[in-house]
Amino acid sequence: IAGVVAEDLGFMVYMVGGIVRDLLLGVPNYDIDLVVEGEGLVFARALAQRLGGRARVHERFQTAVVVLPDGFKIDVATARTEYYEFPAALPVVHRSSIREDLYRRDFTINTMAICLNPGRFGELIDYFGGRKDLKEGLIRILYNLSFVEDPTRILRAIRFEQRYKFQIEAETLRLARDAIDRRLLGKLSHKRILHELILILEEKDPLPALRRMDEIGVWEYVMPEVRLDSETWIMLRRVPRVLGWLAERWLNIGLRSWVVYLLVILQKLPDSAVEEIVHRYRFDRDVTEILLMGREVPGLAVEIEEIQSLSMSDLNKKLRKLSGEHIAFLLLCLNRPESWERVARYLELKQDVRVKVNGYDLKALGLREGPVYQKILSDLYDANLDGLVKTYDEEIELVK
Ligand code: CTP
Repeated sequence: IAGVVAEDLGFMVYMVGGIVRDLLLGVPNYDIDLVVEGEGLVFARALAQRLGGRARVHERFQTAVVVLPDGFKIDVATARTEYYEFPAALPVVHRSSIREDLYRRDFTINTMAICLNPGRFGELIDYFGGRKDLKEGLIRILYNLSFVEDPTRILRAIRFEQRYKFQIEAETLRLARDAIDRRLLGKLSHKRILHELILILEEKDPLPALRRMDEIGVWEYVMPEVRLDSETWIMLRRVPRVLGWLAERWLNIGLRSWVVYLLVILQKLPDSAVEEIVHRYRFDRDVTEILLMGREVPGLAVEIEEIQSLSMSDLNKKLRKLSGEHIAFLLLCLNRPESWERVARYLELKQDVRVKVNGYDLKALGLREGPVYQKILSDLYDANLDGLVKTYDEEIELVK
């Protein structure tokens, strides 16, 4: 449909970048990027109309997102050339042909396109040897200044290399090391570094990329305060298992793996260093709170391991304020299977336990409304957790 829409407007449209790479690799990818030779915004509006969706346009960048009725998104851009006015700056954009558009990109494996216009539908465009590098498993930049213009590409190279078990091609690696030696990563904003770090930590297995970052001297630009020692590695290695375990049960909703990794990575630092990092990267409020509160989790883990007699309501008092990410971190901090079991039982109970009595019941019992209601309901919750009451009648009895 996109091809027909473009053809009608006298434009050419191509599917480009990551999705083409992943199609050739047979890896799922649902991020559709389209590049238009012509007017991307005109095309985006026409495509949205044709598909019954809407187009959100960014005039300044000549890009648009077409949102389909079911929420699926398609990114549309006008073919462009980017000039970097100075190293590590954001680029200045000009219109151009697909070839130039592909040439400004990071690695050969990301420079392939598939034409969608009816006459040439499905034609693979590969000006820069992307297919060959994909076959050989190589991450290769297109021109020598690539890392100088955009040092985040050093982090991207590592991410793709480790994700696909590829290798950074020798000359590309030399240029990356050279850029690192010239301290070009230091010119990047914290925001851009954080963005790349999050992308790495969201990979299925981020550890090889972290190791590689450490090895080629990138880590010191990300978090120089943190030394990734063997104890931290051991815990980091257990993260996917704990996340998988939690996801299978109950806490998969909204649990951000990158935050769990960060909690582990930051755990050995003094409070002041964590505060400094949180300040430097300007995490949003929610993440900031999680990272700062995460400081208490290892201590809680020690208590849970040491005090075997903790009841479920005791556990609730200690754990109820924790986020899903904290719970994952807590499980990582526990060494004894019995402690793990106990927290698991608590999480399970918490899912099921509901206080049956409500405010109206308390009123009917002649209790005057006030803060005492909150206290009674919370005590009832604890009593349910500890198995002291189960039914509505038992709850009423207890209140009496
Ligand atoms: N790109 C680039 N330089 C960057 C970031 C992106 O040249 N610093 C180009 C890449 O060629 C990439 C395209 O922009 O193919 C889209 O970027 P992005 O969506 O981040 O990359 P994907 O290749 O889709 O990666 P992922 O699979 O991680 O989404």
